[in-house]
Amino acid sequence: MAAVSDPIDVDRVRQRFQACHQGHVFEYWDTLTVSQQAALLHQTSALSEGLADLVEGQRKAVAALDAVPDAAEISAPEPIRLPQGSEDERRLAEARETGLGVLRDGRVAMCVVAGGQGTRLGFEGPKGAYPLGPVSDRCLFALQAQKIRGLARRAGCRIPWYVMTSAATDAATRALFEEQGNFGLNPDDVFIFSQGMLPAWDFEDRLILSEPHRIAESPNGHGGAPLALAVSGALEDMEARGIDRLFYYQVDNPLIRMGDAVFVGLHEEIGSEMSCKVIRKREAADKMGVVAEVRGRPTVIEYTEIPPDLRDLRGDDGELVYWAGNIAIHLFNRDFLRRIAAESERCLPFHASPKAIESVDSDAKNRASVGPNGYKLERFVFDALPWAERTCLMEVRAEEEFSPIKNAEGKDSPESSRAQLVARYRSWLGQAGIEVPPGVEAIEVDHSVIDSPADVMESGFSDLADAGKAILVSTGSTGTGMDA
Ligand code: UD1
Repeated sequence: MAAVSDPIDVDRVRQRFQACHQGHVFEYWDTLTVSQQAALLHQTSALSEGLADLVEGQRKAVAALDAVPDAAEISAPEPIRLPQGSEDERRLAEARETGLGVLRDGRVAMCVVAGGQGTRLGFEGPKGAYPLGPVSDRCLFALQAQKIRGLARRAGCRIPWYVMTSAATDAATRALFEEQGNFGLNPDDVFIFSQGMLPAWDFEDRLILSEPHRIAESPNGHGGAPLALAVSGALEDMEARGIDRLFYYQVDNPLIRMGDAVFVGLHEEIGSEMSCKVIRKREAADKMGVVAEVRGRPTVIEYTEIPPDLRDLRGDDGELVYWAGNIAIHLFNRDFLRRIAAESERCLPFHASPKAIESVDSDAKNRASVGPNGYKLERFVFDALPWAERTCLMEVRAEEEFSPIKNAEGKDSPESSRAQLVARYRSWLGQAGIEVPPGVEAIEVDHSVIDSPADVMESGFSDLADAGKAILVSTGSTGTGMDA
C-alpha cells in the first residue's frame, strides 16, 4: 500500500468514492490520526475497484426485497422421496454401495461453514464452540471431528476438513482448534480459511461508517464459500489429494449424518454437480428455505423472501405444496465450485437484510440504533443450485438428520437439540437390543467408534447396570456409565 502521506493515492481513492456518491466516508479524514488514516485508506482501497458494482449489487438486492415472484413460474420440486417400498429400498441400498466406493477411494472432503455470528443463539464466540454433547458437553466442532474420524477409519482413508470462518470467528476458532489439538485429527487434514466481508449500507444507498475511520462490514454470507475455497487454496489442496467431491454443511446441526454414503452415491449415480438434502417442513412458518422449481430450475427460496401465500399454499391433500425444507447439506463437485467461484458476481447475487448497524453520527460519536438503520448484504451458497447442470434433491427424515441450534431457548435451541440427540441414541440402543434403565436422562455416542445401531451391537457395549443418569456409548466390552 502507498504511504498515507501520498496525496495522489488518497485523492484517487477518494475520487472513486465520490464518483459513486460515497465520498462521505472521508468526512472525518482531517481529524483522523495517521494510523486511522492508514486503516481507512487500506479499507477503501480494497473496495474502490469494485465499488460501482457493489453499489449496483446492493441496489438490486434492496429492490429485490419488494419484488413479488411470479407464481406462474414457480412449482413444487420433485426430490427423491423417502423410500415407499422395497423397490425404493433397493435403489437406496445400491446408492449406498456406490457412495461407499467413492468414500473409500478418498474422493470426499468435508466443509463446514462456521463464519456466522450466531446472534440469535446469544452465545459469545463461534457457534462451533458451543458445548452440546448431552453427556460430555463436547462442543459442536468436537462432535463433528468425532464423526470425521469415524468416517475416515471406516473408509480407510484420510478425510480433510475445510473449516470456513469469518473475521468475526476466525481467531477464536483457530485458538480453539489449537487448544484442543485439532480435536484428534491430523493437523495436515484441518484447513481453516476465512470468508470475505461486505460493507453495510444505510437506507439511502450510502455506506455506513461504524467509526470515523472504518466502514461497517459483516461476513459476506456462506455464498462467500466458493470464492474463499478458491482463493485460500483449498480447492487446489483437494485437487492435489485427488478429492473431487465436497460434503458441505452448517456448523449448527449436531444430528448431521456426515459423509452419508447414500447421498454421496445418489449424487454420483445421477451425475449431479450440486446436491441438496431436504426434509418435510413441520409447519409452514418454519424458518427454513424451501426448494422449489423456478423457471424449471431447482432453486432455494429463503424463508425471509418467500411470499406468505406461497409459503402457506396447500394442495388438495392438505399438505404444503412447498414442503421441501433446505437443511443446508450439500454435495458439490470440485469443478462446479471452481466455476461458481469464478462467476460469483453473476450466479450468487447479494441479499439484503435490514439490521441495526453500529454507526457514527455527524459529531463522530457512536450512535446506538434502536431499530434497523440499514442493510447488511450476504450471498447465499444455495443460489448456486439453479446453475448446476444436474442436481440431486434427496428427502431425509428431520428426526434423524436435522436438529439445529439457532435460538437460546424453545424451538431449535440447545435444549431441544440435546433432547433429539438423546432420543436418537436411545432408539439406537433399543435397536441393538439394549434396554436403557429407567432414570437415564442423557445418552451420547462417541461417533469416532460408533455410527449406527449395528456398531453398538458390534462394539459389545451392553452393561448399563450402573449407568447412573447418563450413558456415554463408546467401545469396550462393558458399558461406560457416567453420572451426569
Ligand atoms: C439457514 C438457511 C436456510 C436453511 C436453514 C437450515 C441461510 C441464508 N439460510 O438459515 O435456508 O433452511 O439454515 O438450518 O443460510 N454462515 C457463515 N457465514 C456467513 C453467514 C452464515 O459461515 O456469513 C454460516 C453460519 O455459521 C451457519 C450457517 O451459515 O453455520 C447458517 O447461517 P444462519 O444465519 O444460522 O442461517 P439460518 O437463518 O438459520
